[in-house]
Amino acid sequence: MENSKIYIANWKMNFSFDQATKFVTENHKQFSQLLKKSNSKIVLCSSHTQIYSLQQILNSSNISIGAQNCSQHLKGAFTGEISVIDLSQIGCKYCIIGHSERRNYHNETNQIVCKKLENLINYKINPIVCIGEQISDYENKKTISCLEKQLNPILEKINFMNNISKDIEICIAYEPVWAIGSGKIPDKHHLENIFSWISQKIKLISNKISCNLIYGGSINSKNISSIKKIKYINGFLVGEASLKFQEFEKIINLQ
Ligand code: PGA
Repeated sequence: MENSKIYIANWKMNFSFDQATKFVTENHKQFSQLLKKSNSKIVLCSSHTQIYSLQQILNSSNISIGAQNCSQHLKGAFTGEISVIDLSQIGCKYCIIGHSERRNYHNETNQIVCKKLENLINYKINPIVCIGEQISDYENKKTISCLEKQLNPILEKINFMNNISKDIEICIAYEPVWAIGSGKIPDKHHLENIFSWISQKIKLISNKISCNLIYGGSINSKNISSIKKIKYINGFLVGEASLKFQEFEKIINLQ
């Protein structure tokens, strides 16, 4: 369907268990109604401790629960880590990897992102892989070379993998680091250039896997309409604005 989109909520560490279960209990029927109008999907990325319970509340196939991180290892002596094996067994359908908050505060390197990606694909969890440049790179017109360093290893990893399930859907999320939580978004011209470039790059793997191109960073109900018009973008990663039902609803509804 022409206007089908994927709306991914990144709740970060904002909702407690009680708040997250209340949010999903109160709103999932309305979300389903909203999605009936288009062929869109909603993914709610919660804390690990909430995934199983949230999954139990849902009864709609186009609303899924996702994680915000996973371990690069499958099992072993890695105290406090969460394996994708566990995530797949509790009904987690998507997982964010390479978010700038993890790259910056938890030393998540491209190599670690690629290990996580491989594990997720093998355990049939759809990866949401984040890439994005710092403000200095943006100002010095180095966005493409910066994104290339993050995207190339990801595409090479996918290209190298055999037997990827046809059901896997990979989301490449372009999130300029300076746009996250700042209220600033890149102009239309910049986004058109970047998404056209990403779309060319992923042609390499698009016969192996289906890809969604996602924009994230300070999306809200005031700027969503202009971003929806940009070619190649078929999904959104929404932080702050996904914590309030009415705001998230507007983001999904507005054309
Ligand atoms: P924001 O966060 O919408 O609050 O800017 C987006 C993100 O970090 O994924």
